[in-house]
Amino acid sequence: MRKRTDFLIIGSGIAGLSYALKVAKHGKVSIITKSDESESNTKYAQGGIAAVLYDTDSYEKHIQDTLIAGDGICDEEVVRMVITESTARVNELIEWGANFDKNESGEFDLAKEGGHSEHRILHHKDITGYEIERALLQAVHKHPNIEILDHHFAIDILTQHHLGKEVNSRTPNIECFGAYVLDLKTNKIITILAKTTLMASGGAGHVYSTTTNPTIATGDGVSMVYRAKGKVEGMEFYQFHPTSLYNPGESPSFLISEAVRGFGGILKTIEGKEFMHKYDNRKSLAPRDIVARAIDNEMKISGNDFMYLDCTHLNKQALIDHFPNIYKKCLSIGIDITKDFIPVVPAAHYMCGGIKVDKQGKSSINKLYAIGECSHTGLHGANRLASNSLLEAIVYSHQAAMNAIQQLPSIGYCEQIPEWNAEGTNHPEEMILLTQSLREVQSIMTNYVGIVRSDIRLKRALDRLNILYNENEALYLKTTISPKLCELRNLINVAYIIIKHAIARKESRGLHYINNINN
Ligand code: FAD
Ligand code: SIN
Repeated sequence: MRKRTDFLIIGSGIAGLSYALKVAKHGKVSIITKSDESESNTKYAQGGIAAVLYDTDSYEKHIQDTLIAGDGICDEEVVRMVITESTARVNELIEWGANFDKNESGEFDLAKEGGHSEHRILHHKDITGYEIERALLQAVHKHPNIEILDHHFAIDILTQHHLGKEVNSRTPNIECFGAYVLDLKTNKIITILAKTTLMASGGAGHVYSTTTNPTIATGDGVSMVYRAKGKVEGMEFYQFHPTSLYNPGESPSFLISEAVRGFGGILKTIEGKEFMHKYDNRKSLAPRDIVARAIDNEMKISGNDFMYLDCTHLNKQALIDHFPNIYKKCLSIGIDITKDFIPVVPAAHYMCGGIKVDKQGKSSINKLYAIGECSHTGLHGANRLASNSLLEAIVYSHQAAMNAIQQLPSIGYCEQIPEWNAEGTNHPEEMILLTQSLREVQSIMTNYVGIVRSDIRLKRALDRLNILYNENEALYLKTTISPKLCELRNLINVAYIIIKHAIARKESRGLHYINNINN
């Protein structure tokens, strides 16, 4: 089956939806998304979106905070562009219908998070992402040019490779012609021909055993582009959020927003002693890489499975009003955050690296844009500043949309692309093998490529991953396509890239921390 569209969008989080709203006046837009339309990392964002709105703050301060968190390797031009655009793009989000909390004087109630020198985080209680996703979906539903194909899984992007031509990383003009997409309702693979394609497929938290990300976060976009020989950068920088709720057996892990520390929450040991002063003079509000490493270290020294976040000294009603969802969730497992310490552990949270793009969101493959968490723009450097991710997504959706609209009239469809060939494939005899391999990938990454790494651990990780890669490729060639099989393949790919990039970086920098003492 074949389908044609002007703008193909893979992913329905903040990146894909905001881009759709921008390009829709100029042609037919098809958003494909592999689960329910709202399921995304966006939906679970808690703390909020960073932006400079009032004179008490300045672009320069936000720029400096971003550069400091990024540990010297942010692309400063990109940082300046994203932050000076923050006011206009956030106002657009508000025009599309997103509501952010205001104080009694009618001004936005700005929160503070780690690494920020000012209060500048717009939020909707502690469910900011849910509100943004709601507003964007509502606006998208009203637009006659936009269709959402939910439960449609992108398998691979289409390039000259599918015309039988050799494509490698040195091929000068790789082009994207759309994607092969599995319709999960009919189990048929559709060839979607597109004039331009946007990858907005989010992160890959499930490459680790413990993550704050929903199950859709399996690195599909990065992996598809890597297979198509597009450029991928910065994957050694996987961000662990310092404070996910310690609740053994629960997956994904529930996040305890950094805004709770911004509100006055203090990290403590099991004995109730503060420890962050030993690591950074910003204490519990130091940038994430530092706090996550400190917690990891304290857990290793003490042998305990978690540390505590203490909010018991804070105004009870204000705490509940600001964080109703966190309050409710903790209460559901017997923790009253106004009276009890909250047990917390770091969990994989955000992919700072991704598909390399320029300031227009263009990837190294012609007619393929990438924005949001799956992209690598240069904004985050070696460590993302809290709440800069939703901001990056809306700034780049604008940049990419402007460019795609301009390019569209000169682009046609590549009709020669053949239909998907499923010959010689069969249903797998044992799906359990896929589950077991997934657990192995996650445990390799957690044990050897986590918060603290070493040369020996990275080599071990690569050797073990190679076995899984070979097994899975053999299985892939003879097995009927399913999301589970593709996601495992993609996660193995992403794990491989993270390890390769980590091995190539011969220094500790931001989130990539090497300690060879125990080698
Ligand atoms: P996503 O929102 O993850 O959307 C990706 C989409 O792609 C999904 O619809 C998914 O189903 C689809 N998809 C993926 N693969 C395929 C495929 N093969 N075929 C079809 N569809 C596919 N950032 C902040 O700035 N502030 C915060 O307060 C904040 N809090 C967070 C809290 C949590 C718990 C988490 C997990 C993240 C948080 N982040 C926060 C990070 C931020 O939410 C994400 O980086 C951002 O929402 C990513 O948006 P996106 O549109 O790029 O991707
Ligand atoms: C949080 O609320 O702590 C998450 C913020 C982010 O990931 O930027």
